[in-house]
Amino acid sequence: MKFDPQKLIAAAAKAREAAVAPYSKFKVGAALLARSGEITGGANVESASYGLTCCAERVALFKALTSGTKEFVAIAVVARIQDGPMPCGACRQLLAEYAPDATVIAADTDNMVQFRRFTVKKLLPHAFLGGSW
Ligand code: THU
Repeated sequence: MKFDPQKLIAAAAKAREAAVAPYSKFKVGAALLARSGEITGGANVESASYGLTCCAERVALFKALTSGTKEFVAIAVVARIQDGPMPCGACRQLLAEYAPDATVIAADTDNMVQFRRFTVKKLLPHAFLGGSW
């Protein structure tokens, strides 16, 4: 499905404003576009027990899924980092399960007219999708 990457990047930048990153100070925003046209934003939330931190991508995905939204077309992820942030392995796994056909857009908040474009399938080939137990 055709979509406007710049619009999704702008939504991710807006969502990033709500990041809760007191430890790393690295604020990340994500915006997930559903086939319906709905856009769900998310930002990273960190914990004093560092490992409990949740990335922006997963926050956006969990928000969308638990609002009844599914069938995702694309996700934009932004942070102040050259070439934009790449989703971590945990987020790639969840995207492979719940947004397998999505395009992934990564952009640097200092230069949002430029972005990189991937697919979930490219970022996590041969994903584990469960079995029939
Ligand atoms: N982070 C994200 O939210 N998404 C990414 O794609 C990369 C990393 C967050 C997790 C943590 O709060 C901070 O960035 C530093 O790793």
